Amino acid sequence: MESNDDKFVILEKGATVMDVIDQKIKEQMLTENTDAFSVADLGDLVHQHLLWQRTLPRVKPFYAVKCNTSKPVVQILAQMGLGFDCASKNEIATIRDIGVPAQRIIYANPCKEVSHIKYAVIHGVQMMTFDNEDELNKVAMNHPTAKMVLRIAVNDFTSQSPLSGKFGASMSECRQLLEYAKALNLDTIGVSFHVGSGCTDPKIFAQAIADARVVFDIGINLGFQMYLLDIGGGFPGTAKGKVTLEQLAAEINLALDIYFPDKTEVQIIAEPGRYYVMSSFTLAVNIIARKIVKYSQPSSNDEEAGNEKTMMYYLNDGLYGSFNNFAQYRELLKPIVYKKHSLDQTLYNTRIWGPTCDAWDHISDTWKLPELEIGDWLLFQNNGAYTVSTSTTFNGFHAAMTHYVISKEAWKTLQKIKRETQSPVQEQDDVDTQHLVRH
Ligand SMILES: Cc1ncc(COP(=O)(O)O)c(C=O)c1O
Repeated sequence: MESNDDKFVILEKGATVMDVIDQKIKEQMLTENTDAFSVADLGDLVHQHLLWQRTLPRVKPFYAVKCNTSKPVVQILAQMGLGFDCASKNEIATIRDIGVPAQRIIYANPCKEVSHIKYAVIHGVQMMTFDNEDELNKVAMNHPTAKMVLRIAVNDFTSQSPLSGKFGASMSECRQLLEYAKALNLDTIGVSFHVGSGCTDPKIFAQAIADARVVFDIGINLGFQMYLLDIGGGFPGTAKGKVTLEQLAAEINLALDIYFPDKTEVQIIAEPGRYYVMSSFTLAVNIIARKIVKYSQPSSNDEEAGNEKTMMYYLNDGLYGSFNNFAQYRELLKPIVYKKHSLDQTLYNTRIWGPTCDAWDHISDTWKLPELEIGDWLLFQNNGAYTVSTSTTFNGFHAAMTHYVISKEAWKTLQKIKRETQSPVQEQDDVDTQHLVRH
């Protein structure tokens, strides 16, 4: 099976991601190639979208491009009719290049570079967020017909990555900001917020929606026609986290019915990132070096009772690659040891490092694993969010290659959704229907 960063193949009935991993490892080993790689199951995006539509029927998703920018991912999401949250000129270019109309883009970065605002003008992007007066001045000078969305801060300290320390106006600032927008003759159409990535408390959404209502009413009193509520991201990428999509949705749907009961006047959108892509990617990494630390060695700090040694493994992907946004999700990402058949079931304290020379390039100390050797493979599931898009080439290591696959069933469902949506976007020209992965 040939594949590159944009192509994807359809899996024959019964074939799984694990079959693809088997095949790839076998192929790579023929040429002694131990490079790390990912397998992306694009059917997972289809599954997540159907679940979203059932669970949050009033909320139209605008996928947060920053979370995973790869072309097959954004193409499939575009074909299913999603909108997009772009944070920069390049993200706008990525989405416009696949044929998504500018009306389906929100430029959701409250602090934008002027040249990027000008780029948005050229490409017809109108909706954009703000949270301060200077931003309004910049937009008034460079994009006077923009449709402004006021981002408010929320109490997000229980989320895994809080954002309100950096972005969002406080409730006490909102009236003044809206008056300022009015004075500059900038049209303000709504309110946005973000509860922090990895939200663990559904009540934060309910409070934020209530706050948004207050700001809506201030805007309406000032003469703006407020018609957009953007409830941001923060939705979980797997069902195994602290909260599920369903738990968040129960609070959100209730709050929307209380504070925004009129379904025709206000359009509700969200900016999910992690939710759509986290579970679709599985990363395969190779152990490229190993050190065994014996407790008798003076440099060892390991006093834990139990086994007499700690294993140190060095992988060919790390913090500067796919594990950049990893810390908060450690429990969900414990690796699976790939096909290692050993009679010795002893589990050892294990310290895992990335390949660079930087000591920060450290992945975990907490997992207990059986004894492994150089050349063994580890598989990390749920590896699609903030991995591909945050990889660097530090120390000369390049990002892991991705092989994209989709099951026949998911492919058919996608075609059905496309027909129903009739979304005017670029067709998938890279699908390799001849080349099926067989079980
Ligand atoms: C403005 C904005 N929207 C959406 C997202 C996506 O968040 P998540 O991946 O938690 O859904 C982010 C993430 O940082 C963001 O900054």
